[in-house]
Amino acid sequence: MPTFPNIRHRRLRLNERVRRLVRENHLSVDDLIYPVFATFGQGVRREVSSMPGVYNVSIDLLLEEIKTVEELGIPGIIVFGVPEEKDEVGTGAYHPEGIVQQAVRAIKKEFPELLVITDVCLCEYTSHGHCGLINNHTVDNDATLELLAETALSHARAGADMVAPSDMMDGRVAAIRARLDAEGFTDVPIMAYSAKYSSSYYGPFREAAGSTPQFGDRKTYQMDYANGDEAIRETAQDIKEGADIVMVKPALAYLDIIRRIKEEFGYPVAAYNVSGEYSLVKAAAKQGWIDERSLVLETLTGFKRAGADIIITYHALEVARWLREV
Ligand code: PBG
Ligand code: ZN
Repeated sequence: MPTFPNIRHRRLRLNERVRRLVRENHLSVDDLIYPVFATFGQGVRREVSSMPGVYNVSIDLLLEEIKTVEELGIPGIIVFGVPEEKDEVGTGAYHPEGIVQQAVRAIKKEFPELLVITDVCLCEYTSHGHCGLINNHTVDNDATLELLAETALSHARAGADMVAPSDMMDGRVAAIRARLDAEGFTDVPIMAYSAKYSSSYYGPFREAAGSTPQFGDRKTYQMDYANGDEAIRETAQDIKEGADIVMVKPALAYLDIIRRIKEEFGYPVAAYNVSGEYSLVKAAAKQGWIDERSLVLETLTGFKRAGADIIITYHALEVARWLREV
């Protein structure tokens, strides 16, 4: 009779074939969404200094980049706009000739199959850099809803397949759903940034999108990172208002939130592997302090293990290539 140890966990780790058989979670190219930053002009491709490998790209060159996205089999992209001009009311966000609207039209014309998701927010387009209208020095929730709905509608009219509100105003999902439905876009899903935390991890994005608030911070609308139950309440509200996919953002420091939301609601969950998470990896890799490829695959698989169905990541192109090699 075998005595100690009759159970040896190491038997199932003996070699890669056995490990493959018992592996619980799999990262796939099907999980990925690639963020892009569209800008006006021709032949423009400006690298974001804090995000090596990420660029502000004019539409002509964006189409070339998207060819690569399609060749790699990545299901979709999320489009952010870097406008030429900003004003108090964020006109560029909902103008029919805004940068996102033009980019989406051009992309869908050339790549009709590609899933084109748009980020719906005002902060890239407002002179003050906040995600909503300013009244009496504060972000006016209810006055902002109309503009967000207008923005989402303009994206749908341009051909967006899905809209993703990232502003964190109360009631935005309901406002957007009502507006889209009233205009005949009943089949355009909403991916809501539901548990979006006020985070230092967004720093490099604000350089990429030029969306740093000119006064104050986003703490009156984005969530306090100390809170978990609140993420459940936010997500429940978005689902009630008609969200089809819910998002947790950032991802790395919020894996518990991904897990809780997956278990609580059983809805498709997207994890946003944000700019600062990307920059940390790139900086350490440049120094030769980490093995970038294995570290990124480990991190993204961790998001899957936590409960994410979808991963939005600036690493999407490289990950898609790496997954082909293994
Ligand atoms: C706009 C928006 C932000 C991000 C996505 N949409 C920035 C912010 O809220 O300040 C962050 C993305 C990233 O850091 O990669 N509301
Ligand atoms: Zn915003």
